[in-house]
Amino acid sequence: MANIALMCLLAVVSQTASLSGPPAQPPLWPQTFSVTFQEERHISVVPVNQNVGAWHYDFANSRARFDYSQGQADSFCTGRGLTLKDEHGDCQLFFSTLGLYVHYPREQQCCRACGPAQYCSVIKPTWLAGATYLGEENINGTTCHGWEKQGAVATDRWYQTEDGKPCQYWEKLQFVPHITHVITFNTSSYQLNPIPASVFDVPKYCNSTCPIPYPPH
Ligand SMILES: *[C@@H]1O[C@H](CO)[C@@H](O)[C@H](O)[C@H]1NC(C)=O
Ligand SMILES: *[C@@H]1O[C@H](CO)[C@@H](O)[C@H](O)[C@H]1NC(C)=O
Ligand SMILES: *[C@@H]1O[C@H](CO)[C@@H](O)[C@H](O)[C@H]1NC(C)=O
Repeated sequence: MANIALMCLLAVVSQTASLSGPPAQPPLWPQTFSVTFQEERHISVVPVNQNVGAWHYDFANSRARFDYSQGQADSFCTGRGLTLKDEHGDCQLFFSTLGLYVHYPREQQCCRACGPAQYCSVIKPTWLAGATYLGEENINGTTCHGWEKQGAVATDRWYQTEDGKPCQYWEKLQFVPHITHVITFNTSSYQLNPIPASVFDVPKYCNSTCPIPYPPH
C-alpha cells in the first residue's frame, strides 16, 4: 500500500514538473519601457513596406510615443488627410489622456486623430489577458515565448524572452487579402529606465483635429 501511494505521489510530482515549463499566465507589460525595432507588412506573401521605429511606453504616466520611420504605412499615421509631401515619411504617434496626435516631424504637420472615447489611449499593460500560450520559437536567433490573442478584426501574437524582453509583435488582419504586420524588436535596445518627459511633448502646432479622424468610418 505504501509503495503504491509513493508511486502515485511520484507520478503527481513528475506531472507537475513537466507542466512547469510553459509560463502559467500571459505576460504583463512593464509600466515603462523603450525599445527599437524593424517593421514589415505583407499582403498575402508580397512585402508592401519596411521601416524601422521605436516605442517609448510610459503607462505609469499615462503616455506613450510610437515612432515609425521613413517607409512606414502605419494605419494611424497614413490617411489622416494632412497635406504632406510624403505620407510614408517619419511619423510619431503621441498617446495620452488627451487622445492620439499624429505628427510628421520633418514636415511639421500634426493633428489630433481621435480621443479616449474612440479607444485612442495608452494600451494597457494587461492587454494580453486571456491570451493562449503558443510555445517557444526562435526569433532572429533568440528563444522566445509566444502568446496569441484573437481580436475582432485581427489576431495578435506577442513573443518575449524568458526574462521579459520583447522579441516580436505579429498581427494578421482578417481581411481578404490577408495583411500580415510584423514588428521585430531589437532586444539589445530594450530599456526599463524612466523616460524624460520631453520625449512626450506634443509640438505647439498640434492644435487641430485631423481632416480625416480615426477611425475613418
Ligand atoms: C536580426 O538579426 C540580424 C542578424 O544578426 C540583424 O541584422 C537584424 O538587425 C536583427 N533584427 C533586429 C530587429 O534586431
Ligand atoms: C540594437 O540596439 C543596440 C543598442 O541600442 C544597438 O547598439 C544596435 O546597433 C542595434 N542593432 C540594430 C540592428 O539596430
Ligand atoms: C495652431 O498653430 C498654428 C501654427 O503654430 C497657428 O498658426 C494657429 O493660429 C494655431 N491655431 C489655434 C486655434 O491655436
